[in-house]
Amino acid sequence: MNKAVIGLQWGDEGKGKIVDYLSEDFDLVVRYQGGNNAGHTVIVEGTTYKLNLIPSGVIRGKICFLGQGVVLDPNHFSNEYDQIAKKIDNPKVFLSSNISLILNYHKQLDKINELILNVEKKIGTTSKGIGPAYQDKVGRKSIKLYDLKYKNIIEEKLYSIKTFYDPILESFNESKINIEQTVKDLLCFYDLVKDLIVDNSLIKKEFKNKKVLFEGAQGALLDLDHGSYPFVTSSNTVSSNIVIGSALQVDYQTVGIFKAYTTRVGNGPFPSELFDDTGNYIAEKGVEIGTVTKRKRRCGWLDLVSLKYSCEINRVNELCMTKADVLNSLSEIKVCKSYNSKEYEDINFSDSEFLESLSLEESDFEFFSSWGEIEELSKYETLPDNLKKYIAYIENYLNIPIKIISLGPERNQTIIR
Ligand code: IMP
Repeated sequence: MNKAVIGLQWGDEGKGKIVDYLSEDFDLVVRYQGGNNAGHTVIVEGTTYKLNLIPSGVIRGKICFLGQGVVLDPNHFSNEYDQIAKKIDNPKVFLSSNISLILNYHKQLDKINELILNVEKKIGTTSKGIGPAYQDKVGRKSIKLYDLKYKNIIEEKLYSIKTFYDPILESFNESKINIEQTVKDLLCFYDLVKDLIVDNSLIKKEFKNKKVLFEGAQGALLDLDHGSYPFVTSSNTVSSNIVIGSALQVDYQTVGIFKAYTTRVGNGPFPSELFDDTGNYIAEKGVEIGTVTKRKRRCGWLDLVSLKYSCEINRVNELCMTKADVLNSLSEIKVCKSYNSKEYEDINFSDSEFLESLSLEESDFEFFSSWGEIEELSKYETLPDNLKKYIAYIENYLNIPIKIISLGPERNQTIIR
Protein backbone atom coordinates (compact mmCIF):
# COMPACT_ATOMS: atom_id res chain seq x y z
CA MET A 1 0.00 0.00 0.00
CA ASN A 2 1.18 3.55 -0.70
CA LYS A 3 1.92 5.67 2.35
CA ALA A 4 2.02 9.34 3.28
CA VAL A 5 4.08 10.85 6.09
CA ILE A 6 2.28 13.94 7.35
CA GLY A 7 3.32 16.38 10.10
CA LEU A 8 0.61 16.82 12.73
CA GLN A 9 1.99 19.88 14.52
CA TRP A 10 3.62 23.10 13.29
CA GLY A 11 6.26 21.33 11.19
CA ASP A 12 9.69 20.01 12.16
CA GLU A 13 8.28 16.74 13.49
CA GLY A 14 11.07 14.69 11.92
CA LYS A 15 9.43 13.76 8.61
CA GLY A 16 12.78 13.69 6.78
CA LYS A 17 14.22 10.99 8.99
CA ILE A 18 11.09 8.84 8.88
CA VAL A 19 10.70 9.18 5.10
CA ASP A 20 14.33 8.08 4.75
CA TYR A 21 13.63 5.12 7.05
CA LEU A 22 10.41 4.02 5.36
CA SER A 23 11.52 4.67 1.78
CA GLU A 24 13.41 1.37 1.70
CA ASP A 25 10.11 -0.36 0.90
CA PHE A 26 8.93 2.10 -1.78
CA ASP A 27 9.74 2.72 -5.45
CA LEU A 28 8.96 6.42 -5.68
CA VAL A 29 9.07 9.21 -3.07
CA VAL A 30 6.98 12.30 -3.81
CA ARG A 31 6.72 15.87 -2.48
CA TYR A 32 3.38 17.46 -3.25
CA GLN A 33 3.40 20.95 -1.69
CA GLY A 34 5.54 23.71 -0.21
CA GLY A 35 8.97 24.77 -1.32
CA ASN A 36 12.36 25.41 0.22
CA ASN A 37 10.67 26.75 3.36
CA ALA A 38 10.88 23.12 4.52
CA GLY A 39 14.10 21.76 5.94
CA HIS A 40 15.03 18.15 6.66
CA THR A 41 18.19 17.00 8.35
CA VAL A 42 18.83 13.29 8.00
CA ILE A 43 21.82 11.54 9.57
CA VAL A 44 22.83 8.18 8.14
CA GLU A 45 25.91 6.41 9.47
CA GLY A 46 27.44 9.67 10.59
CA THR A 47 26.82 11.55 7.33
CA THR A 48 24.45 14.51 7.58
CA TYR A 49 22.15 15.28 4.65
CA LYS A 50 20.39 18.64 4.56
CA LEU A 51 17.40 18.77 2.24
CA ASN A 52 14.80 21.42 1.57
CA LEU A 53 13.08 20.36 -1.64
CA ILE A 54 14.32 16.94 -2.61
CA PRO A 55 12.53 14.12 -0.73
CA SER A 56 14.82 12.26 1.65
CA GLY A 57 14.19 8.99 -0.25
CA VAL A 58 17.03 10.25 -2.46
CA ILE A 59 19.52 9.08 0.18
CA ARG A 60 18.57 5.43 -0.45
CA GLY A 61 18.80 5.99 -4.21
CA LYS A 62 15.02 6.00 -4.63
CA ILE A 63 13.36 7.88 -7.47
CA CYS A 64 12.11 11.22 -6.16
CA PHE A 65 9.45 13.34 -7.78
CA LEU A 66 8.50 16.94 -7.04
CA GLY A 67 4.84 17.27 -7.95
CA GLN A 68 2.94 20.19 -9.39
CA GLY A 69 1.87 21.45 -5.94
CA VAL A 70 5.46 22.38 -5.11
CA VAL A 71 6.81 25.89 -5.70
CA LEU A 72 10.41 25.78 -6.86
CA ASP A 73 13.19 28.34 -6.54
CA PRO A 74 15.54 27.60 -9.46
CA ASN A 75 18.68 28.84 -7.69
CA HIS A 76 17.90 26.91 -4.58
CA PHE A 77 17.09 23.72 -6.46
CA SER A 78 20.33 23.85 -8.49
CA ASN A 79 22.40 24.26 -5.33
CA GLU A 80 20.57 21.54 -3.43
CA TYR A 81 20.85 19.13 -6.36
CA ASP A 82 24.59 19.84 -6.69
CA GLN A 83 25.13 19.30 -2.97
CA ILE A 84 23.29 15.98 -2.96
CA ALA A 85 25.07 14.86 -6.15
CA LYS A 86 28.36 15.23 -4.25
CA LYS A 87 27.17 12.67 -1.68
CA ILE A 88 25.01 10.33 -3.75
CA ASP A 89 25.84 8.84 -7.13
CA ASN A 90 23.43 9.86 -9.83
CA PRO A 91 20.50 11.14 -7.71
CA LYS A 92 17.22 10.23 -9.36
CA VAL A 93 15.16 13.40 -9.10
CA PHE A 94 12.32 14.42 -11.42
CA LEU A 95 10.31 17.62 -11.56
CA SER A 96 6.72 17.92 -12.74
CA SER A 97 6.64 20.24 -15.76
CA ASN A 98 3.61 21.83 -14.09
CA ILE A 99 5.60 23.24 -11.16
CA SER A 100 5.34 27.02 -10.56
CA LEU A 101 8.58 28.89 -10.06
CA ILE A 102 9.69 31.18 -7.25
CA LEU A 103 11.54 34.18 -8.68
CA ASN A 104 13.51 36.90 -6.99
CA TYR A 105 10.58 39.35 -6.88
CA HIS A 106 8.58 36.79 -4.82
CA LYS A 107 11.22 37.07 -2.10
CA GLN A 108 11.07 40.87 -2.29
CA LEU A 109 7.27 40.73 -1.99
CA ASP A 110 7.51 38.30 0.95
CA LYS A 111 9.63 40.93 2.71
CA ILE A 112 7.19 43.73 1.85
CA ASN A 113 4.18 41.66 3.01
CA GLU A 114 5.79 41.30 6.42
CA LEU A 115 6.94 44.91 6.55
CA ILE A 116 3.43 46.33 6.24
CA LEU A 117 2.06 44.33 9.18
CA ASN A 118 2.07 45.53 12.79
CA VAL A 119 4.58 43.72 14.98
CA GLU A 120 1.99 41.42 16.58
CA LYS A 121 0.47 40.56 13.18
CA LYS A 122 3.71 39.62 11.42
CA ILE A 123 3.65 35.99 10.25
CA GLY A 124 7.38 35.42 10.64
CA THR A 125 7.70 33.70 7.26
CA THR A 126 10.85 31.95 6.12
CA SER A 127 11.37 34.83 3.60
CA LYS A 128 11.72 32.32 0.77
CA GLY A 129 8.97 33.88 -1.34
CA ILE A 130 6.54 31.03 -0.73
CA GLY A 131 3.36 33.07 -0.14
CA PRO A 132 3.84 35.41 -3.13
CA ALA A 133 4.69 32.46 -5.41
CA TYR A 134 1.43 30.72 -4.47
CA GLN A 135 -0.39 34.06 -4.86
CA ASP A 136 0.86 34.17 -8.46
CA LYS A 137 -0.18 30.58 -9.02
CA VAL A 138 -3.73 31.31 -7.86
CA GLY A 139 -3.61 34.64 -9.73
CA ARG A 140 -2.67 32.78 -12.94
CA LYS A 141 0.61 34.62 -13.39
CA SER A 142 3.14 31.88 -12.56
CA ILE A 143 5.97 30.93 -14.80
CA LYS A 144 5.83 27.14 -14.98
CA LEU A 145 8.67 24.75 -15.70
CA TYR A 146 7.06 23.88 -19.03
CA ASP A 147 7.32 27.56 -20.06
CA LEU A 148 11.09 27.44 -19.94
CA LYS A 149 11.23 25.85 -23.40
CA TYR A 150 10.01 29.09 -24.93
CA LYS A 151 11.98 32.32 -24.56
CA ASN A 152 9.10 34.38 -25.97
CA ILE A 153 6.61 32.95 -23.45
CA ILE A 154 8.91 33.74 -20.51
CA GLU A 155 9.35 37.29 -21.82
CA GLU A 156 5.64 37.77 -22.36
CA LYS A 157 4.75 36.52 -18.89
CA LEU A 158 7.48 38.57 -17.27
CA TYR A 159 6.26 41.67 -19.04
CA SER A 160 2.82 41.49 -17.44
CA ILE A 161 4.34 40.47 -14.09
CA LYS A 162 6.58 43.53 -14.26
CA THR A 163 3.67 45.81 -15.13
CA PHE A 164 1.75 44.49 -12.16
CA TYR A 165 4.48 44.42 -9.51
CA ASP A 166 7.02 47.11 -10.39
CA PRO A 167 4.93 49.94 -8.88
CA ILE A 168 4.78 48.06 -5.58
CA LEU A 169 8.48 47.14 -5.61
CA GLU A 170 9.41 50.72 -6.44
CA SER A 171 7.28 52.19 -3.70
CA PHE A 172 9.15 50.07 -1.15
CA ASN A 173 12.55 50.96 -2.60
CA GLU A 174 13.03 47.45 -3.93
CA SER A 175 14.75 46.92 -7.26
CA LYS A 176 12.39 46.53 -10.21
CA ILE A 177 12.05 43.32 -12.23
CA ASN A 178 14.87 42.94 -14.74
CA ILE A 179 13.33 41.03 -17.62
CA GLU A 180 16.52 40.54 -19.58
CA GLN A 181 18.48 39.13 -16.63
CA THR A 182 15.60 36.94 -15.45
CA VAL A 183 15.15 35.43 -18.91
CA LYS A 184 18.88 34.75 -19.12
CA ASP A 185 18.89 33.07 -15.70
CA LEU A 186 15.82 30.99 -16.45
CA LEU A 187 17.17 29.75 -19.78
CA CYS A 188 20.43 28.85 -18.12
CA PHE A 189 18.52 26.97 -15.39
CA TYR A 190 16.48 25.17 -18.04
CA ASP A 191 19.65 24.00 -19.72
CA LEU A 192 20.78 22.42 -16.47
CA VAL A 193 17.54 20.69 -15.52
CA LYS A 194 15.70 19.96 -18.76
CA ASP A 195 16.37 16.23 -18.47
CA LEU A 196 14.75 16.15 -15.04
CA ILE A 197 11.50 17.78 -16.17
CA VAL A 198 8.70 15.33 -16.91
CA ASP A 199 5.01 15.63 -17.62
CA ASN A 200 2.67 14.25 -14.97
CA SER A 201 1.35 11.66 -17.39
CA LEU A 202 4.78 10.08 -17.76
CA ILE A 203 5.25 9.61 -14.01
CA LYS A 204 1.73 8.23 -13.78
CA LYS A 205 2.42 5.71 -16.55
CA GLU A 206 5.89 4.71 -15.34
CA PHE A 207 4.76 4.21 -11.76
CA LYS A 208 1.48 2.46 -12.32
CA ASN A 209 1.20 -0.32 -9.73
CA LYS A 210 4.47 0.73 -8.07
CA LYS A 211 4.67 1.70 -4.39
CA VAL A 212 4.66 5.41 -3.64
CA LEU A 213 5.66 7.19 -0.44
CA PHE A 214 4.44 10.79 -0.08
CA GLU A 215 6.51 13.24 1.97
CA GLY A 216 4.53 16.07 3.55
CA ALA A 217 6.19 19.40 4.27
CA GLN A 218 5.38 21.70 7.22
CA GLY A 219 2.54 20.44 9.44
CA ALA A 220 -1.24 20.26 9.68
CA LEU A 221 -1.50 23.32 11.93
CA LEU A 222 0.28 25.37 9.26
CA ASP A 223 -2.23 24.30 6.59
CA LEU A 224 -3.62 27.27 4.68
CA ASP A 225 -7.24 26.27 5.32
CA HIS A 226 -7.10 24.09 8.43
CA GLY A 227 -4.30 25.85 10.33
CA SER A 228 -4.09 28.89 12.59
CA TYR A 229 -4.82 31.48 9.88
CA PRO A 230 -3.18 33.85 8.99
CA PHE A 231 -0.18 32.35 10.82
CA VAL A 232 0.08 29.52 8.33
CA THR A 233 2.03 28.65 5.23
CA SER A 234 0.47 29.22 1.81
CA SER A 235 -0.16 25.63 0.78
CA ASN A 236 -2.40 22.81 1.93
CA THR A 237 -0.18 20.59 4.01
CA VAL A 238 -2.86 18.01 4.83
CA SER A 239 -3.02 14.59 3.20
CA SER A 240 -6.08 15.40 1.09
CA ASN A 241 -3.88 17.67 -1.05
CA ILE A 242 -1.75 14.70 -2.11
CA VAL A 243 -3.77 13.82 -5.18
CA ILE A 244 -3.85 17.41 -6.41
CA GLY A 245 -0.26 18.29 -5.57
CA SER A 246 1.26 15.10 -6.97
CA ALA A 247 -1.24 14.51 -9.82
CA LEU A 248 -1.11 10.80 -8.88
CA GLN A 249 -4.61 9.43 -8.41
CA VAL A 250 -3.72 6.70 -5.93
CA ASP A 251 -4.89 5.50 -2.52
CA TYR A 252 -2.60 5.67 0.47
CA GLN A 253 -2.40 5.08 4.20
CA THR A 254 -1.42 8.05 6.34
CA VAL A 255 1.31 7.99 8.96
CA GLY A 256 0.84 11.03 11.20
CA ILE A 257 4.06 12.17 12.78
CA PHE A 258 4.46 14.23 15.95
CA LYS A 259 7.13 15.14 18.47
CA ALA A 260 6.71 13.98 22.08
CA TYR A 261 6.37 17.73 22.83
CA THR A 262 5.38 20.66 20.59
CA THR A 263 7.38 23.32 18.76
CA ARG A 264 6.55 26.25 16.54
CA VAL A 265 8.75 28.62 14.49
CA GLY A 266 7.39 32.00 13.54
CA ASN A 267 4.44 33.74 15.10
CA GLY A 268 0.91 32.68 15.90
CA PRO A 269 -1.04 30.96 18.65
CA PHE A 270 0.50 28.09 20.59
CA PRO A 271 -1.77 27.04 23.47
CA SER A 272 0.69 24.71 25.26
CA GLU A 273 3.75 26.98 24.89
CA LEU A 274 6.24 27.09 27.78
CA PHE A 275 7.86 30.40 28.68
CA ASP A 276 9.98 29.06 31.54
CA ASP A 277 13.21 27.14 32.11
CA THR A 278 11.58 23.89 31.03
CA GLY A 279 10.80 25.42 27.62
CA ASN A 280 14.39 26.59 27.31
CA TYR A 281 15.69 23.20 28.42
CA ILE A 282 13.61 21.40 25.76
CA ALA A 283 14.77 23.87 23.08
CA GLU A 284 18.41 23.32 24.01
CA LYS A 285 18.34 19.54 24.46
CA GLY A 286 16.20 19.08 21.35
CA VAL A 287 18.40 21.47 19.32
CA GLU A 288 15.22 23.30 18.39
CA ILE A 289 16.63 25.76 15.90
CA GLY A 290 14.92 26.26 12.52
CA THR A 291 16.81 24.43 9.73
CA VAL A 292 15.86 27.09 7.19
CA THR A 293 15.90 30.35 9.13
CA LYS A 294 18.09 29.37 12.13
CA ARG A 295 15.46 30.93 14.41
CA LYS A 296 14.99 29.44 17.87
CA ARG A 297 11.84 27.33 17.91
CA ARG A 298 9.22 28.01 20.56
CA CYS A 299 8.67 24.92 22.73
CA GLY A 300 5.76 23.57 24.76
CA TRP A 301 4.12 20.43 26.08
CA LEU A 302 2.49 17.91 23.80
CA ASP A 303 -0.96 19.27 22.90
CA LEU A 304 -3.37 16.36 22.46
CA VAL A 305 -6.31 18.62 21.64
CA SER A 306 -4.72 19.96 18.46
CA LEU A 307 -3.17 16.55 17.75
CA LYS A 308 -6.61 14.94 17.74
CA TYR A 309 -7.82 17.61 15.32
CA SER A 310 -4.78 17.01 13.05
CA CYS A 311 -5.41 13.25 13.07
CA GLU A 312 -8.98 13.82 11.98
CA ILE A 313 -8.28 16.28 9.17
CA ASN A 314 -5.55 14.00 7.83
CA ARG A 315 -7.47 10.76 8.32
CA VAL A 316 -4.42 9.31 10.08
CA ASN A 317 -4.16 5.51 10.17
CA GLU A 318 -1.07 5.13 12.31
CA LEU A 319 1.23 7.37 14.31
CA CYS A 320 4.93 7.99 14.63
CA MET A 321 6.31 9.73 17.73
CA THR A 322 9.74 11.36 17.61
CA LYS A 323 12.16 12.89 20.12
CA ALA A 324 10.86 11.30 23.35
CA ASP A 325 14.58 11.17 24.28
CA VAL A 326 14.57 14.97 24.67
CA LEU A 327 12.22 14.64 27.67
CA ASN A 328 14.23 11.77 29.30
CA SER A 329 15.46 13.59 32.36
CA LEU A 330 12.63 15.97 33.14
CA SER A 331 11.22 15.08 36.56
CA GLU A 332 7.70 15.88 35.43
CA ILE A 333 6.30 15.63 31.90
CA LYS A 334 2.90 17.00 31.00
CA VAL A 335 0.47 16.65 28.12
CA CYS A 336 -2.37 19.07 27.47
CA LYS A 337 -5.67 17.19 27.35
CA SER A 338 -8.17 20.07 27.13
CA TYR A 339 -8.22 23.84 26.71
CA ASN A 340 -10.20 25.75 29.31
CA SER A 341 -11.89 22.41 30.19
CA LYS A 342 -13.88 22.57 26.95
CA GLU A 343 -14.50 19.77 24.50
CA TYR A 344 -12.28 20.01 21.41
CA GLU A 345 -15.32 19.97 19.09
CA ASP A 346 -15.95 23.58 20.14
CA ILE A 347 -12.66 24.82 18.76
CA ASN A 348 -12.10 26.45 15.40
CA PHE A 349 -8.39 25.86 14.84
CA SER A 350 -8.32 28.32 12.00
CA ASP A 351 -9.44 31.15 14.32
CA SER A 352 -6.14 32.50 15.64
CA GLU A 353 -7.78 35.14 17.84
CA PHE A 354 -9.62 32.41 19.71
CA LEU A 355 -6.54 30.20 20.03
CA GLU A 356 -4.53 33.18 21.31
CA SER A 357 -7.12 33.71 24.03
CA LEU A 358 -6.42 30.27 25.54
CA SER A 359 -3.99 30.23 28.42
CA LEU A 360 -1.70 27.54 29.71
CA GLU A 361 -2.95 28.12 33.26
CA GLU A 362 -6.48 27.24 32.31
CA SER A 363 -5.63 24.13 30.32
CA ASP A 364 -5.96 20.64 31.76
CA PHE A 365 -2.83 18.52 31.89
CA GLU A 366 -2.03 14.87 32.51
CA PHE A 367 1.23 14.32 34.42
CA PHE A 368 3.93 11.71 33.73
CA SER A 369 7.22 10.84 35.45
CA SER A 370 10.66 10.77 33.89
CA TRP A 371 11.60 7.68 31.88
CA GLY A 372 15.40 8.01 31.91
CA GLU A 373 17.86 7.23 29.12
CA ILE A 374 16.37 5.51 26.06
CA GLU A 375 18.62 6.37 23.10
CA GLU A 376 20.30 2.94 22.99
CA LEU A 377 17.08 0.92 23.13
CA SER A 378 15.93 -0.81 19.97
CA LYS A 379 12.85 -2.83 20.99
CA TYR A 380 9.49 -1.62 22.26
CA GLU A 381 9.51 -4.27 25.01
CA THR A 382 12.68 -2.79 26.51
CA LEU A 383 11.30 0.76 26.81
CA PRO A 384 10.87 2.04 30.39
CA ASP A 385 7.39 1.61 31.88
CA ASN A 386 6.95 5.37 32.29
CA LEU A 387 7.46 5.92 28.55
CA LYS A 388 5.09 3.03 27.78
CA LYS A 389 2.49 4.76 29.97
CA TYR A 390 3.01 7.99 28.01
CA ILE A 391 2.59 6.13 24.70
CA ALA A 392 -0.51 4.24 25.92
CA TYR A 393 -2.13 7.46 27.14
CA ILE A 394 -1.64 9.18 23.76
CA GLU A 395 -2.89 6.14 21.83
CA ASN A 396 -5.92 5.90 24.04
CA TYR A 397 -6.72 9.62 23.70
CA LEU A 398 -6.36 9.60 19.92
CA ASN A 399 -7.59 6.05 19.40
CA ILE A 400 -4.80 5.46 16.86
CA PRO A 401 -1.76 3.18 17.36
CA ILE A 402 1.76 4.59 17.61
CA LYS A 403 3.59 2.20 15.30
CA ILE A 404 6.92 4.02 14.95
CA ILE A 405 8.97 5.50 17.79
CA SER A 406 12.07 7.49 16.92
CA LEU A 407 14.63 7.83 19.71
CA GLY A 408 17.39 9.80 18.01
CA PRO A 409 18.48 11.27 14.69
CA GLU A 410 20.20 8.14 13.31
CA ARG A 411 18.34 5.77 11.01
CA ASN A 412 18.88 2.87 13.43
CA GLN A 413 17.40 4.77 16.39
CA THR A 414 13.92 3.77 15.27
CA ILE A 415 11.56 1.28 16.87
CA ILE A 416 8.80 -0.33 14.82
CA ARG A 417 5.93 -2.06 16.65
P1 IMP B 1 6.25 30.61 4.84
O1 IMP B 1 5.89 29.18 4.58
O2 IMP B 1 7.69 30.92 4.59
O3 IMP B 1 5.32 31.54 4.16
O4 IMP B 1 6.05 30.87 6.42
C1 IMP B 1 4.77 30.82 7.03
C2 IMP B 1 4.85 30.20 8.42
O5 IMP B 1 5.13 28.81 8.30
C3 IMP B 1 5.96 30.76 9.32
O6 IMP B 1 5.51 30.75 10.65
C4 IMP B 1 7.09 29.78 9.17
O7 IMP B 1 7.97 29.77 10.26
C5 IMP B 1 6.30 28.48 9.06
N1 IMP B 1 7.00 27.43 8.34
C6 IMP B 1 7.15 27.31 7.00
N2 IMP B 1 7.82 26.19 6.70
C7 IMP B 1 8.09 25.58 7.86
C8 IMP B 1 8.73 24.34 8.19
O8 IMP B 1 9.18 23.57 7.35
N3 IMP B 1 8.80 24.05 9.53
C9 IMP B 1 8.27 24.85 10.48
N4 IMP B 1 7.65 25.99 10.20
C10 IMP B 1 7.55 26.36 8.92
